[in-house]
Amino acid sequence: MRFIVAAVSAAALALGLSAAAEAQTPIKIKFSHVVAESTPKGQGALLFKQEAEKRLPGKVVVEVYPNSSLFGDAKEMEALALGDVQIIAPSLSKFDKFTKKLQLFDLPFLFDDIQAIDRFQKTKLGQSLLEDSIKAKGYKGLAYWHNGMKQMSATRALRAPADAKGLKFRVQPSNVLLAQFQAVGANPQKMAFAEVYQALQVGTVDGQENTWSNIYSQKFHEVQKYITETNHGVVDYIVVANTQFWEKLPPDIRKALDAVMAEVTVKTNKTADEFNEADKKKIIAAKTSEIITLTKDQQAQWRKAMEPVYKQFEGEIGKDLIQAALASNKGS
Ligand code: LMR
Repeated sequence: MRFIVAAVSAAALALGLSAAAEAQTPIKIKFSHVVAESTPKGQGALLFKQEAEKRLPGKVVVEVYPNSSLFGDAKEMEALALGDVQIIAPSLSKFDKFTKKLQLFDLPFLFDDIQAIDRFQKTKLGQSLLEDSIKAKGYKGLAYWHNGMKQMSATRALRAPADAKGLKFRVQPSNVLLAQFQAVGANPQKMAFAEVYQALQVGTVDGQENTWSNIYSQKFHEVQKYITETNHGVVDYIVVANTQFWEKLPPDIRKALDAVMAEVTVKTNKTADEFNEADKKKIIAAKTSEIITLTKDQQAQWRKAMEPVYKQFEGEIGKDLIQAALASNKGS
């Protein structure tokens, strides 16, 4: 009897101690991403850290790992599933393996601008894509974050679609993006973001597509003679957590973090365009590349050349989604 009492009180003591230790040990959230800190996503991650730690002092610590310094494109999804990192924010093009629906966002010339994508993402359909499309895989979509419209850079001046013929383009791991470049007779290849600069420098690929902020912060303009302002697609993100981790957070902490995420999302998405505009100006000032602006007619030629991609993928994506996304462009 005495033994049982002693054992019970030892257990109670241990429990009490571990509860006390738990109360003192802040929850650590590792937030890993692949871009520079000076980009919309880089700034968003830092703002999340700042606000979360301010709101939950001693309870939460956020460690931000930019520039693929913890995990690159190829590993971050797996690392999230394993609990080696708690938040990542991959571009929508990187979810191909998990859901075909998100391929929607890669369709060329789908959205006129970031405001249109924002309008679409706020609809019921847009929200269900965020919440439901990756749920079954153990991932929790916390928010959409914007970067901006994509431009094309290459070793050759791209004015008409035929100018891309035979050029090797790096694309993100998305079959829609592969098909988009195949439609203009180019040779696309999937490659991790961290490898792009070197691949452009040594000529493994001749060109790539990205936002002004990614082009500037990765110095792609220093190794690409021409940049064409095509605005043909978007780079946008889902901030994603490991569902188990997020749902097991103490309710008060999760509630506070959800509120922080919502506020940071508003700020990040409001300022994304400004980052890209500022970086475009820096690229122009650097004078390393010729910046090509398309005429309306040239823009229409690119759109037409890439149009077959819609038919190719409408079965996987769903016509309803494509129609709803198109309807978010003003005037449509
Ligand atoms: C890319 O791989 O080109 C981009 O998606 C990188 C990023 O996260 O913006």
